[in-house]
Amino acid sequence: MSGHGTPKPMRSAPCGALSGVADVPGDKSISHRSLILGAMAVGETRISGLLEGEDVLDTARAMRAFGAEVTNRGGGEWTVHGVGVGGFAEPDQVIDCGNSGTGVRLIMGAMATSPISATFTGDFSLNKRPMARVTDPLALFGAQAVGRSGGRLPMTIVGAADPVPVRYTVPVPSAQVKSAVLLAGLNAPGQTVVIEQEATRDHTERMLAGFGAEITTEDSDEGRVITLTGQPELAPQVISVPRDPSSAAFPVCAALIVPGSDVLVPGIGLNPTRAGLFATLRDMGADLTYENQRTEGGEPVADLRARFSPDMRGIDVPPERAASMIDEYPVLSVVAAFASGVTMMRGVRELRVKESDRIDAMATGLRANGVAVEEGEDWWSVTGHGPGSVTGGATCASHLDHRIAMSFMVMGMATQHPVTVDDGGPIATSFPIFEPLMTRLGAQLSHPEQPDI
Ligand code: S3P
Repeated sequence: MSGHGTPKPMRSAPCGALSGVADVPGDKSISHRSLILGAMAVGETRISGLLEGEDVLDTARAMRAFGAEVTNRGGGEWTVHGVGVGGFAEPDQVIDCGNSGTGVRLIMGAMATSPISATFTGDFSLNKRPMARVTDPLALFGAQAVGRSGGRLPMTIVGAADPVPVRYTVPVPSAQVKSAVLLAGLNAPGQTVVIEQEATRDHTERMLAGFGAEITTEDSDEGRVITLTGQPELAPQVISVPRDPSSAAFPVCAALIVPGSDVLVPGIGLNPTRAGLFATLRDMGADLTYENQRTEGGEPVADLRARFSPDMRGIDVPPERAASMIDEYPVLSVVAAFASGVTMMRGVRELRVKESDRIDAMATGLRANGVAVEEGEDWWSVTGHGPGSVTGGATCASHLDHRIAMSFMVMGMATQHPVTVDDGGPIATSFPIFEPLMTRLGAQLSHPEQPDI
């Protein structure tokens, strides 16, 4: 669980050149899915490189509560002894998903077509986030949901005893919603069809195919049409989790804005549904190269090399790229503050319903540190004045949001005065080694006694 402890203020002071190799942890999205699909397979799935962040550990605990045997073998190696599709037991405790929207939404989907009930809760951030986007399609399968007003957690899902397959067009660009419907479709007879108008991360589709499910994806006038045949027997897998491009974003962006830096971030997945940030940074003029490009476990992978880039310019980020970089806008806005000119980010309404309202959280903190930001409901823009131009010196609220906290810590590495966040604790949800990793590269991170917010 996260966000229940005492706030841990964290400060980042301007530092010298960052250099070295940044071995970032395993991909969060793929880690959740490995545990959940491992739990739905028959037999033992072996996972290496699992992200051992709090979000994923909460999912591991949840899978145990549903009857799977999940064992940490040490050194990032885990095994999951699955109970098979439709084999989930009814948990005898409330399932606490901590800070994780991905965890709770995918697990709700996975259990919604079994004749069991489960009650879900989370931290203060998760319990504010909308769940109707998942429970609406789950109702089509025959599942019922009773939660707080506005479709918020805590919430009980009563799984469908006689599920029917569904055909569902996802109304918002969300891989979590798409995945919840596909996971529910696993235990429904016949074919479940999910249609998405904008392509979102496709790890669930890839992994379902890997576990032996019959799943096809076709591009049509309606969008991407994904068809899953229900009630397969999933075969256990050996999974090597690639390193997380969303975590790589932090050392990469820090290197681009701190004078003299040269950082190598090896083995990063460049699945096109995830790599939008890196394309955007290159469009801005970043000195970011892909070295040693290869394919690993069916995913394109490269070593990223990022060097200080004094001549970056603001750009209009193509809105059609939004889904492929949705978690990276906070740190992009920091880079934009050190580029020259306006960076315009449109089509990003979803940022308002993440772990925090990320447009509001970043805009408030950027302004407090001397950066000009404008915003509307589904867009925002940041005006930058080049390297060395950002004053800093302020304390920002992280709103129980790991990516907000890390973005401001990256910013403080290149501002004139240190930048503080009121709570760096949430960083442990996705990037538990952020502080030692960034410190080894040369960052100056510390823990002031009192947040002066
Ligand atoms: C995720 C999907 C995205 C992303 C989240 C992880 C996933 O959320 O923001 O961090 O693993 O499916 P949405 O589905 O809400 O866009």
